[in-house]
Amino acid sequence: MEFSIKHVQPGRSKAACVIVGVFEARKLSTAAAQLDEAAQGHIAKLLRRGDMEGKSGTTLLLHNVPGVSSERVLLVGLGREPDFGVKQYREAVAASVRAVSATGATDAELHLTSLDLDERDIEWRARQAVTIAQETAYRFELMKSRKDPAKPPFKHLALAVTNRGDTRAAEAGLRVGVALAEGMALTKDLGNLPPNVCTPMYLADQARDVAKRYRMKVQVFERADMEKLGMGALLAVARGSHEPPKFIVLEHRGAAKDGKPVVLVGKGITFDTGGISIKPAAEMDEMKFDMSGAGTVLGTMKAVGEMKLPLNVVGLIPTTENMPGGHATKPGDIVTSMSGQTVEILNTDAEGRLILCDALTYAERYQPAAVIDIATLTGACVIALGHVASGLFANDDALAQELLAAADSAHDRAWRLPLWDDYQDQLKSNFADFANIGGRPAGSVTAACFLARFARKFKWAHLDIAGTAWRSGKEKGATARPVPMLTEFLLKRANG
Ligand code: BES
Ligand code: MN
Ligand code: ZN
Repeated sequence: MEFSIKHVQPGRSKAACVIVGVFEARKLSTAAAQLDEAAQGHIAKLLRRGDMEGKSGTTLLLHNVPGVSSERVLLVGLGREPDFGVKQYREAVAASVRAVSATGATDAELHLTSLDLDERDIEWRARQAVTIAQETAYRFELMKSRKDPAKPPFKHLALAVTNRGDTRAAEAGLRVGVALAEGMALTKDLGNLPPNVCTPMYLADQARDVAKRYRMKVQVFERADMEKLGMGALLAVARGSHEPPKFIVLEHRGAAKDGKPVVLVGKGITFDTGGISIKPAAEMDEMKFDMSGAGTVLGTMKAVGEMKLPLNVVGLIPTTENMPGGHATKPGDIVTSMSGQTVEILNTDAEGRLILCDALTYAERYQPAAVIDIATLTGACVIALGHVASGLFANDDALAQELLAAADSAHDRAWRLPLWDDYQDQLKSNFADFANIGGRPAGSVTAACFLARFARKFKWAHLDIAGTAWRSGKEKGATARPVPMLTEFLLKRANG
């Protein structure tokens, strides 16, 4: 879909569909009232007949409204006016795009961006509108032999601004929104692809594509390279698989050469069977999403490249399958990580932390400004926070606050959980420096505590996205979270 910013009154619109908002109790928004004026009260009359209440997310499509040059008018419900907020705004944009897609309209003009939304400026509103529109229009059809024949012809969405003075800010929001949406689409595609296609090699190829397109530096380490680096924990996970593991390094140089980079580390388990500690069969297919951290890194790097962000950003992706097999790691095996610390692997299904710990050690060489790892790490995080917030852990309060603020601003929320040393006792091992599991209590915390032992040399945060990276059930599919949060975080870092 294409986007533009337009300074236009709704009554004058020549778009195939003009979209205006209606609050509950049939109260017209400013744009709707202007349109109604052009239509000499036609819209208010329809509302009085009871055709639409204005409930959040509902829509009513009108044709040939007298006095209006646009072929169609779409009324979209905004809910109660005093309750109108971020959630209602997002719902209204999504409902609008869904409704227009169901018609034959090829282009539409959205008069929601100028609505009063306290504390969110026009830049934010334009950015959100673009991202939500793209999200709503997203379909995963790469693996269908026949594409949806009734694919909607909806191609162009214009965001209308009331004040000409708002145009510039809206255009800036549009550009960021488009970049973010492109990154998110990549993250979603990678997550949704089946695990026989989206292998470690496929992820490496995708990283090479991103590098080529945005002139980034890319390196892909093979098993032998990882052996030389001493990545014993990562390699222990890869032992059971016939797919070669990869360690991907992607570098965006947007600032001065000596500018310390932000390093993003993404868990890239392209399929998690659990290994010898094998998982039960139910819903095991969803473990194809266990590379969502890696997908988030690639999608965020893509958005960074699109925006030509003036910041140094490094993406690190340890990637492998976690499979059982004759060579697979066994419970009780002890391995030496790249840091030199030894780990007793008591459960081969706690594999994410094993591939991440070596990547964290690798990150030391950048003397990073901050390291953020992103991982579908623990089922316990889904129990703690559900599908609403990602779990956030950090060894630095300022970094944690910065990420929480970005999460809030991007409406891609996170919630901080503790990382106190008191929990470290649960990782005690009788035979190695420590174990890779800490028992059932506070499973997400002990997983983060494990990682913390490899992040002592820099400011570090860990995002557990087990509950937020994908949806299950009828709407099964990748969400591209937390790409919006991280993009927002990096934007703020770049722009001071
Ligand atoms: N990839 C899983 C975590 C996961 C499970 C994410 C379900 C989303 C839904 C991870 O590798 C895993 O298996 N973790 C174990 C850790 C346990 C063995 C300590 C878990 O959460 O059960
Ligand atoms: Mn696992
Ligand atoms: Zn896993």
